[in-house]
Parts: sequence; C-alpha cells; structure tokens
Amino acid sequence: MRSIVIEDHFVAWRAASLGALAEDLAPEAIEWRVKQESELPQGQALFDYGATSEDAEPRSTAVRVSKELAALLQDAALFRESQRWAFLYKVLWRWHHGDRAVASPADEDGARLHRMAKSVRRAKHDMIAYVRFRKQAPASASTVQTPEYIAWYEPEHDVLAWAAEHFSQRMGRATWMITTPRGAAFWDGEQLHLEQRRALPGEHRCDTADEAEALWLAYYRSTFNPARLNEAALEQHMPVRFWKGLPEGHLIPAMISEAKSGARRVAQASGVGALGGKTIPVEADMAQPAREQPSSLDTCRRCDLWRNATQAVGSSGPSDARIMLIGEQPGDQEDLSGQPFVGPAGQLLETAITRAGLSREQVYLTNAVKHFKWEPRGKRRLHKTPGQREIEACSYWLERELHTVRPVVIVTLGATALTALLREKVSLRDHLDAPFRVEGGWGIATYHPSFALRQQTDADRDKVLAEISNALIRARELAESAAPTTKKQRQ
Ligand code: URA
Repeated sequence: MRSIVIEDHFVAWRAASLGALAEDLAPEAIEWRVKQESELPQGQALFDYGATSEDAEPRSTAVRVSKELAALLQDAALFRESQRWAFLYKVLWRWHHGDRAVASPADEDGARLHRMAKSVRRAKHDMIAYVRFRKQAPASASTVQTPEYIAWYEPEHDVLAWAAEHFSQRMGRATWMITTPRGAAFWDGEQLHLEQRRALPGEHRCDTADEAEALWLAYYRSTFNPARLNEAALEQHMPVRFWKGLPEGHLIPAMISEAKSGARRVAQASGVGALGGKTIPVEADMAQPAREQPSSLDTCRRCDLWRNATQAVGSSGPSDARIMLIGEQPGDQEDLSGQPFVGPAGQLLETAITRAGLSREQVYLTNAVKHFKWEPRGKRRLHKTPGQREIEACSYWLERELHTVRPVVIVTLGATALTALLREKVSLRDHLDAPFRVEGGWGIATYHPSFALRQQTDADRDKVLAEISNALIRARELAESAAPTTKKQRQ
C-alpha cells in the first residue's frame, strides 16, 4: 500500500495522480491522505502548491481526458468529502485504462462523479447569490489594512477560491474580505490572497449595520406583501440555510409569522366550520355576519379572497354602456395589473367582441368576483373557481354596478357569472340558447372564453369562440333594437 500525502486541492491531487499513473499504481494500492495544518509550513497560502507526494520528485505521465471529464473532475474536487481524492484517482485510472464509461452518468462511478460536480456547481451559484458584503468603518490609527467590505459565508463545498475569483473581477478596486469556517479570501484592490484557516463559526461575523444596509432592510421590508406570501416559493428561492448570512435574514421569520397569523385565523375558521353538529338551514345572506359595508373595492373584506390577492380588480368601459359583460373573477395577469380581461382569456374575448361588430371601449366589462382566487402550483398561481359564499359576498359590488350602469343587455360569461346574476345556482346549459329577462333588460348566457382556451383542438376552440361571438351579436342586436334611451331614461 502506497501512502500519498497531498495538500487539499485539485492541482496537488492532479500532480500526485499523474505520478501515480506513471508508476501504474492501482487505486486499491494507494492510501490518499491530506496534509494536516500542522504539516503545512506556517502561513502557507492555499495556492502555494508545494510537494505533492512523499516522493521527492515524482515521475509523471501525460493523460488526455475529454473536456467534459476535465470539468467534472475540477468541480468534483471541490466536493467536501474525505474520500474525494481516492475516488477521483479511481475515475482517472479507469479513463487512463481506456474505460470511457467512467464519465457517463449511467456508470456507478460516473453517476457519483456527476452528482458531486452538480452539487458543487450549485454551491458555486449559491455563494455568488448569497454572499452579502457589509461596509466597514475605516480603522483609524492603524497600520493594518482593513478591507472596506467584509462578508461572512458558510459554503457547502470548497468553493471559496472560485467565488473569490469571481468577486475580484467584479468589485473593482474596492478592498474586501470573505471569511468562511475553512478559509478566507482577501482582495487588496489589485491582488487576491487566499488563506486556509480554521476559523470558528461566527468569527469575523460582522454585526454592524451600515447606512446602505439600513436602506436595504427598509426596502426589503417594504417589498414584502403578506397577502402574497408563498412560503414554499420563498424558501425555494432563498433557502433557510442562507438566511443567517444575509442582512435581511433576521427579518424573514418575523415577516412570515405576521403574514401567517392572518392565514391561521382563516384556517381555523374553516376547521370550526367543518366540525360535525346539527345543521340549521338559513338563507345564505342571513348567515353572513353583519359587517360595516366597505366604502371602496380596495377596502373590501366581505370574504377572505383579498388576503391572497394583490389587489381588487374593478371594471372597464363606459358607465352608461348598453351592454354589460360579466366574467368570473380576475386571473393572474388581471390581479397584477388591476384591469379586467387583460390576460389570455381577455384576448380571446376581445376577438369575439370584434367579430360581433363591437369594440371593447363600447362595452362595460366586469367580473362576478373581484379578487383573484388561486392556489400555488410550483412557481405558478393556479386559478381556483370561486365558491358560492364568495360569489354571494361579492354580489354587493355587482348589484351596485347593475344599478349604476343599467345596461340594456347583460352577457354572462360562464356559469359563475350566470349564478351571480340570477343569485341562484343554475345550469349554464339550460340558459345557453335563449335570451331571458333580467334586471329590467335582457340576459344572455354564453361560455367563458377560458373554456375555449381549454379545448384540445383548434376546431373545438373555434367552435366555442364562434358561440361566444354569436351571443355577442345577439346582445348587440338586442341593444340596438331597444329604444335608444339614455341611462337616465333607463332608470
Ligand atoms: N377571467 C375572468 O373571468 N375575468 C377576467 O378579468 C380575466 C379572466
């Protein structure tokens, strides 16, 4: 058994490995050992590559590896694991002996190599993303150069040198230092110095917040919208293990807990509602707690949908329009923009409006429910159909709109809008083909444009779109055939 003692870095391993290959040493015949700190010359820099094995002058051999394998080896060499050098030598040995499968993820060793490299690449990315430099007060009356910026970071693998190189190319002449539990990097404005050290966790941690940091914290707090908290997404973007190194890290748990105390109340309410017991039938509107009526949509708390929505979405179009179109509820894009029907369903609706010889500016567009109801699915917010309770709570607004606009024809798009207009759960199919009397005018029920979007084939999609256009043509004809009244006369 040959013992090879190297310094703990790739270049030392590579030189020692080439020597071992030249001697035809099989992986099983080598015991790889890393020099301990006490064995290193005092103050030795990380990249001061010294002797690589116990042999004073190892012979070496040239090994040609593919570009891909070279990159995998270099990344995997930063993987923090005691057996890494022995494992990498095994890979190199197999490749050197013509066994190309070793670089494939289908091979057992290849798979391990790929896993290691992938984990290191992630650690590199994380370090670039989550290192936060804090400005230091200049050290007065000291000859020791204090870096202008200091950061503390705990990388998952040995990626400090790589990240330091990255920062040195981006931070100009400002001096900085990154300290980690296993080493430090210092940029003096011209040159990078790397040191392998055994710092205690917390050492060099910088607790003084500078002005820029105070501003950053204020900004961070202000961008946090409790109504849109998605904890899973937050933790996915900024994993918890990084919080301690970020100036904003200590704010996050408190902000989450504040946002969640509201959510907890809602969850509790539904839990209580789900308890068994005697059921007493009451009219839905009687079951609504008496609340002060909101003075504007923005302040509406008649149901809980406001909690997870960005904003309430009102109407568009003239308040004296003769045709009113009622949709279901705002979608993702409407929630963000505050305008109804601006997303994909809105675009399709606009096509139908145009085909019917109308224009968007001529009609009054609104929704049965004014807040976006959704559930998280990965990074997306998926539409969720509003429930009867939410439709009823929001009928307060729809009634006001009907009273104000007094349209001659009301077109409902989809079942939710029809239910909201008729104030009872009805079948859309039963109402599709015939205009009906409602609110002193005409009602026409048709499909929601998103139903067209959900069709599997273009032909089916066009069929639904044609149905919506026909309903709008009918609405236009009815509006035109009614006596040309002003809104005032309609009241
Ligand atoms: N779907 C609707 O019902 N309304 C909108 O505003 C957008 C999509």
